[in-house]
Amino acid sequence: MSITSEPEVSVIVPTYREAENLSALCAALDGVMQAGDIAYELLIVDDQSPDETIRIATELADEYPLRLIQPVGRDRDLSLSVLDGFEAAESDKIVVMDADLSHPVDVIPELVRELDAGPGVLVAGSRYAPGGAFDRHWSFWRFLNSWLATSLARPLTDCRDPMTGFFAVRKGDLPDTGRLRPIGYKIALEIMVRGDFSRIVEVPISFRDRSIGTSKMNLKQQFNYLRHLRRLYLYRFGGLAEFVHYGAVGLSGFVVDICVYYLLQLVGLDHRIARLISFWPAVSWNWALNRITTFGDRARRPRGHQWMEFVMASCIGFAFNWGIYVTLTSNFHFFDQYRLLALISHLSLASPPPACLTS
Ligand code: GDD
Ligand code: MN
Repeated sequence: MSITSEPEVSVIVPTYREAENLSALCAALDGVMQAGDIAYELLIVDDQSPDETIRIATELADEYPLRLIQPVGRDRDLSLSVLDGFEAAESDKIVVMDADLSHPVDVIPELVRELDAGPGVLVAGSRYAPGGAFDRHWSFWRFLNSWLATSLARPLTDCRDPMTGFFAVRKGDLPDTGRLRPIGYKIALEIMVRGDFSRIVEVPISFRDRSIGTSKMNLKQQFNYLRHLRRLYLYRFGGLAEFVHYGAVGLSGFVVDICVYYLLQLVGLDHRIARLISFWPAVSWNWALNRITTFGDRARRPRGHQWMEFVMASCIGFAFNWGIYVTLTSNFHFFDQYRLLALISHLSLASPPPACLTS
């Protein structure tokens, strides 16, 4: 079937290796749209799936109002595929969803109805709104992971499910595609933060785990999420975000420092030597974490070189730091009794300026 009259809704579905899910998705979606008398187009945005996705989508286009979009000249990426879908969409009302039947299609008419309230509304299919649910088969770790990911995004938006991949929006309300800079999976979050919405409506959904095929979420995507979050925090909170991040990394380095300091004494080392040694793993930890997270977006110099500079910059401060520690604990009974205070009292001397990581 070809697309005849102008559709009322464009449904965008990014796909990568979804051959086995496509025909069930089309049938379910079409049933719901026919029943609701909603004229629609389905945009399948495929990133060169190596399986049968392309062939099957092409066949299904004879039966359903389906257009297959095959972007070229960029890396495979879920969010960028959704942006390509936005560009190609014929109608103002847009629904974005996954291909794997995780998102209940029967909610789509409600998502679309909410858009009728007027411009400036983003409608999110939400697992965490009252009445929403997720698959009870989730392991504790998966639940914890999702909870943590969601909590990290909460300062950026009021939406209770900012991780959702199921949402409706008006094309006219989307920020310029040039202003959107998503990385990885969280396109809805990107739009919520960078868009200018007067309201985010949450429609409760029951999220079902896919039964066919595998999730493309992996560790790399989780790191991408952290990088994406960092961008959004910088966008929303500016230099303050950078400051807090650098401080948090420093604090975690301090924990490493203290642990090593006590462990070395447990195995019998003198506390002054322990202090001399514990600095090194701590400063390396800070360096690595900063490299991965804080300044991960910027151009990077070779690892060894950068580590040496970071250590050198830290060294000067640490020489003072260690000198004061030894002086205090050797000359004052109080500080010898509470050595941790001697250690903390001038710790900031040992933290290197972020500048040596940024160039
Ligand atoms: N074009 C394209 N390119 N599509 C992709 C790519 C890609 O690189 N990677 C994944 N997809 C498609 C999949 O084929 C599927 O239709 C959809 O994007 C979601 O991918 P899944 O691999 O099923 O993701 P998930 O189930 O782990 O994550 C989903 O649920 C999360 C909430 O738990 C997504 O909707 C996430 O956005 C959401 O946060
Ligand atoms: Mn999925």
